[in-house]
Amino acid sequence: MMKARFLGHACWQLSDGQRSIVIDPFLMGNPAAAARPEELQVEAILISHGHSDHVGDALSIAKRTGALVIGCFEVATYFQQKGVEAHAMHLGGAHSFPFGTVKMTPALHGSGLVEDGQMIYMGNPAGFLIGMGDRVIYHSGDTALFSDMKLIGRNRKIDLALLPIGDNYTMGIDDAIEAVKLLDPARVVPMHYNTFDLIRADAEEFKRRVLAETGAGCDIVAPGESIEV
Ligand code: NI
Ligand code: MN
Repeated sequence: MMKARFLGHACWQLSDGQRSIVIDPFLMGNPAAAARPEELQVEAILISHGHSDHVGDALSIAKRTGALVIGCFEVATYFQQKGVEAHAMHLGGAHSFPFGTVKMTPALHGSGLVEDGQMIYMGNPAGFLIGMGDRVIYHSGDTALFSDMKLIGRNRKIDLALLPIGDNYTMGIDDAIEAVKLLDPARVVPMHYNTFDLIRADAEEFKRRVLAETGAGCDIVAPGESIEV
């Protein structure tokens, strides 16, 4: 049994009762943030890509807690150069950590971070297939729909898929429904919507369509809420 706690936008904290990690900890400046960065106690921070609404407060959390930052080589190098411990991976690679396994999956998106007026190259955007406890959780990162999603859940059934539905920067509802069909997860939860006006989406419509058109269950999780997986 695992707990997935939604902290707003694309930020999720996953805990198995003993160990806890966070994905894309964008909290300061996030209108939907459900926690402050200094409240988080985690042993690892997964970063899907280098956009500021995903890198977020990773550096301050890593410095305070000593959490290991996990991301693609370019993201990991950025954090190492900032003086925190980071583990570099890349697309298609999996690795076992004390908290569980992480496989870095492709995402169709961009990845750059503006710092001091300069665009820093942050490598390829990614998603994560996470094995923790005896559960498998897929966090897609920011992505368009792509047909290879059908391969991501083929070896191990996805218990929970976390997918963007906010449109404009990522999949909207129509494409996210197609993604659910390809991934075939037991359950899906929408994310990356309603944080800003530009990514308004009707999660209830998404849920109705998931239940009507796919084999998956669907929960709408508000920032600050947790679900059992
Ligand atoms: Ni992004
Ligand atoms: Mn984003």
